[in-house]
Amino acid sequence: MRPSVYYVGVKDWDRRLFDELIPLPDGTSYNAYLVKCDEKTALIDTADPTKEQELLANLRKLGVKKIDYAISNHAEQDHSGALPIVLNAYPEAKVVTNPKCRDMLMDLLLIPEEKFIVIKDGDTISLGEKTLEFIIAPWVHWPETMLAYLREDGILFPCDLFGSHLATSDLYAVDEARVYEAAKRYYAEIMMPFRLMIQRHLEKLKAFEIEVIAPSHGPLYDKPEFILDAYKDWVSDKVKNEVVMAYVSMHGSTRTMVNYLVEALMERNITVKPFNLTRTDIGELAIALVDAATIVVASPTVLTGLHPNVGYATYLTNALRPKAKFAAVVGSYGWGGVMLEHIKCMLSGLKVDLLEPVMVKGYPKKADLEALDRLADTIFAKHRALGIAQE
Ligand code: FEO
Repeated sequence: MRPSVYYVGVKDWDRRLFDELIPLPDGTSYNAYLVKCDEKTALIDTADPTKEQELLANLRKLGVKKIDYAISNHAEQDHSGALPIVLNAYPEAKVVTNPKCRDMLMDLLLIPEEKFIVIKDGDTISLGEKTLEFIIAPWVHWPETMLAYLREDGILFPCDLFGSHLATSDLYAVDEARVYEAAKRYYAEIMMPFRLMIQRHLEKLKAFEIEVIAPSHGPLYDKPEFILDAYKDWVSDKVKNEVVMAYVSMHGSTRTMVNYLVEALMERNITVKPFNLTRTDIGELAIALVDAATIVVASPTVLTGLHPNVGYATYLTNALRPKAKFAAVVGSYGWGGVMLEHIKCMLSGLKVDLLEPVMVKGYPKKADLEALDRLADTIFAKHRALGIAQE
């Protein structure tokens, strides 16, 4: 990577699910880095415990006999899980981290307190010819997260921040279109709930001369502005002239409404992204939520409530806290129920203006389609008021 700086991470080409929740269509990697200087050697993050032997083999290949500092930027096990075996193989190593991360590592991995060197924001450790500085950056995406910065080379090690679940043989982001999509998916699934915190972190990072960003998942960035500009866009308060439509239909009534509303919005020059929740990759839905001004949830009524797949997607949408400004519910019922109330309640974490719903008894009739036209008019007017839609 640079003189004295080595990639020692591990690819996980076959992994297809993270946290038993997030689809990984392109696998992932657990990036770890070794900075081997004239006086001291530091390992930055480790790997998932399933890959601990490969991490150790990478260290052995480099002839590493001693590690002085094991920097832990984040306590989640895909980066810290191999710490116990590293500490066992390199008993002189001290774990360098902040107090919150220390406590979590003690809880999660049972690492004894005497193994730690505790740092605070702005602290440095000298490796001899090079210096590591620590930047406390909470909530990307746990409360204990921090970043490490190698001053002499301008390398930022931000752990999960700026990462992507993408296993590739490229060390750097060569295929920018592919990396952009994977990084946006990663942002949407992992970082989006902490958008406002990231705005502040980006401001703080302006004070650092960054030549390389070396995250702990996916390719590194030797053109840091590529990912920094993408993040500036994603975390900004600006929304786009887009509607995300998440739906399920059992017998065609809700589908007819969705199709009609999609056409009505397209006629008004609004980009629509429909997702059939019985078959969609939930990560694709999350990506669409990064930019959309409006979210429409469409459901039939099942057992008096919403369809369970709609419940799953609505719960996730609420938890991911996208920056959408408007939301609407449309759907159908046979004889009654509280589907609308359920969905409204499940979206209560979003700061959205809830638009007039369109609920249809049975198959949609002329008056119902007219109500959908009015909803499309309202969405257009709201987008135009934001300056993002045009006639
Ligand atoms: Fe890649 Fe939050 O762990």
